[in-house]
Amino acid sequence: MSTPVEQRRITVRHFRKGGGPYVCLTAYTAPIARLLDPHVDLLLVGDSLGMVVYGMDTTVPVTLDMMIAHGAAVVRSTQHACVVVDLPFGSYQESPQLAFRSAARVLAETGATAVKLEGGVEMAETIRFLTRRGVPVCGHVGLMPQAVNASGFRAQGRNEAEASAITADARAVAEAGAFALVIEGTYRALASAITQSVPVPTIGIGASPDCDGQILVTDDLLGLFGSFTPRFVKRYAELGATVSAAAERYAQEVRAREFPGPEHCFGT
Ligand code: KIV
Repeated sequence: MSTPVEQRRITVRHFRKGGGPYVCLTAYTAPIARLLDPHVDLLLVGDSLGMVVYGMDTTVPVTLDMMIAHGAAVVRSTQHACVVVDLPFGSYQESPQLAFRSAARVLAETGATAVKLEGGVEMAETIRFLTRRGVPVCGHVGLMPQAVNASGFRAQGRNEAEASAITADARAVAEAGAFALVIEGTYRALASAITQSVPVPTIGIGASPDCDGQILVTDDLLGLFGSFTPRFVKRYAELGATVSAAAERYAQEVRAREFPGPEHCFGT
């Protein structure tokens, strides 16, 4: 009998300053997670699923139950990548205790390794509370989509005041014990300065190649989410066009009674 090769999933200890560049992508479903898993260090079950999967306008209406259902699907279908699940809006901001209850449900019910939450100085106490109680946390500063109603979707760090606030956020999150820090939609000089000054790896999205790793929303990279392509996205495929062409051809063949053919029938 051959000995099965033990597959070891990447843990948060893999993410060290100077150890990158780290390759990260979002995943929300089993088939996509399975395809991405061998190629990445980290899969994020992002609350961007509200827009990408559910057609919502923002991430604000996403619930903890939605994140848990998708997180469990991604963990079940992967063996290699470190899986991180976003805590959605309203599931952690109120208190460290609420954040712990939400994070504990995510880790217990999905099998994910860590949670991600948005916020800087104001969330440092919560991040410290979680990390000291065995919950690995990835921070998220700069453009924070859950704060869209307060600050909108625009690149961050365009003036001195904004830059020093985001720098203070990044430092506070790192000092509170986050194992890594997503920097979103931030001017290059600022993302670069933060990356040099914090002791944990930074993972950029729209934050320049100077970060210690990169993340993109997979559906953007695959050309599946067509309504808007932000400047920082590179489309590595045009699967939207492929899906549309396949559906068009199927419709034509059904209407012309060409599909199903004899090879698709039982007993002929
Ligand atoms: O929700 C998400 O997909 C994210 C990434 C954009 C980093 O937070």
